[in-house]
Amino acid sequence: MPKHSNSSDSNRREFIKTTGKVTAASALAGVALPRVHSAVDDTVKVALVGAGGRGTGAASNALSVSAGHGPTKLVAVADIFEEKLKSSLNGLKRKHGKKVDVPADRQHIGFDGYKKAIDHLSKGDVAIFTTPPAFRWVFYKYAVEKGINVFMEKPVTADGYGTKKILEINKTAKKKNLKVGVGLMCRHSRARGAMAEKIQEGAIGDIVLMRSYRMHGPVVTSRSIPQSMSPEYKDMEEIRWQIRRFHSFIWASGGCFNDFYIHNIDECCWMKGAAMGDPNNAGGDPFDVIGTRDKWSWPIMAQATGGKHYTENKQGQPYVDQNLDTYSVEYTYADGTKLMHNGRTIQGCHNEFASHVHGTKGFGTFSANGHWPAPSALYSGLTPNPKNQIWKFPARETNPYQDEWDDLLDAIRNDKPYNEAERGALASQVCNMGRMAAHTGQRVTWDDALNAKPLAPDLDQLEGFDSKAPVTADKDGFYPVPQPGITKKSEY
Ligand SMILES: NC(=O)c1ccc[n+]([C@@H]2O[C@H](COP(=O)([O-])OP(=O)(O)OC[C@H]3O[C@@H](n4cnc5c(N)ncnc54)[C@H](O)[C@@H]3O)[C@@H](O)[C@H]2O)c1
Repeated sequence: MPKHSNSSDSNRREFIKTTGKVTAASALAGVALPRVHSAVDDTVKVALVGAGGRGTGAASNALSVSAGHGPTKLVAVADIFEEKLKSSLNGLKRKHGKKVDVPADRQHIGFDGYKKAIDHLSKGDVAIFTTPPAFRWVFYKYAVEKGINVFMEKPVTADGYGTKKILEINKTAKKKNLKVGVGLMCRHSRARGAMAEKIQEGAIGDIVLMRSYRMHGPVVTSRSIPQSMSPEYKDMEEIRWQIRRFHSFIWASGGCFNDFYIHNIDECCWMKGAAMGDPNNAGGDPFDVIGTRDKWSWPIMAQATGGKHYTENKQGQPYVDQNLDTYSVEYTYADGTKLMHNGRTIQGCHNEFASHVHGTKGFGTFSANGHWPAPSALYSGLTPNPKNQIWKFPARETNPYQDEWDDLLDAIRNDKPYNEAERGALASQVCNMGRMAAHTGQRVTWDDALNAKPLAPDLDQLEGFDSKAPVTADKDGFYPVPQPGITKKSEY
């Protein structure tokens, strides 16, 4: 295994930039330079932590950045399931060949695998975090200590405790000028970006209402039957089983609420003015929202309803996950603007996956049918009537999953300010607040949600796979579930 020493790699990126400038200047002067730069490898190395579906996709995007932002190479992978790691690596090798350079001693299985994977990187490289979100702050802390750039998937947090951790760690990341991408890739959609600008220029007047929808059948691991009834999982350690079924467990993922709804909720906050990172944000300290309330461009309160309609599958096996099947949330912004979000995971109902905005002078569809293509358009009336269309994105839309990686690599290569961690944490916290409102049946403020009881504060202490899981099942395999109106201070 090549040893990537921090000292020889330190200032690698700066060296490349400086050498490039000297080369250009000397070429003009006709002076022959020693070919020192050819001895320097300017490959951005990538380590993947969480080699599941999205992790494999994100690593593939990292290896597919445009020529101007390459070369990139995958050098290490960590997971807690060997079969997931192997299958991800095989797929990536088939697609990317030599750009995947992960010999056995750079494949790490275990709760400490993230440290070992990150240790193969040096300054200028990128660690990808695509596990369930509860682990983000744990990994982020280590990467920031080591001075490594990060790409982490959404959601960034599953509770207020995680949000506070990320915001705190991020102060150091900013001081170190680390580049941090968050997988809210719709923020990199060129169509949505153009429409957000139009709205902020006043194309539909002042925003008074936003509506978003994420309604489809139960997908991924949002519904679970007892572990003992699942032949695939019945002999697995409980903690690995909960992680494997992470959409079913609020501590691990924020449930289907955070995992599914965050894109639409975040893009509505964007339309309202919540900008990239904090410097251009409408202002405010996330730890002191009340003091900066008039400037805050994220919702400050939520009330919500939700229901569980189906308690067993067609075979009569009970569902034991912690999710509700429907959620309806009313978010309130400091100036009184409302965001209404509807979520449903039930088969056979009307499906919708969209975000809309109403202003004093018109109406807009930010996204109509999923992530990509958006398409984004503005109208003078209250409906998407083509006759009243006043603007639509004029170009063909590119893939935002790839765009977000080109943007991150561009920032790394050219040392542009780039830190999406705070915005990602705040978007996640808006989800935590809405989910808590539905699960407790109470009106929940920003502070209530930020200071709520931590759901899994000790994830940095996990050692073996026999570690205790953050929630435990009763003798029949049932977990604590939300009881609005009964459990009012915590979600279960
Ligand atoms: N941006 C998007 O549109 C998008 C799409 C899909 C998933 N995601 C996000 O990506 C994340 C992963 O989702 P997925 O669908 O890939 O799930 P997945 O289950 O397919 O993959 C997660 C992987 O992480 C591994 N893992 C879990 N805990 C770990 C730990 N402590 N250390 C190392 N590895 C660990 C799992 O074993 C698994 O291989 C989620 O946060 C999800 O919301 C984002």
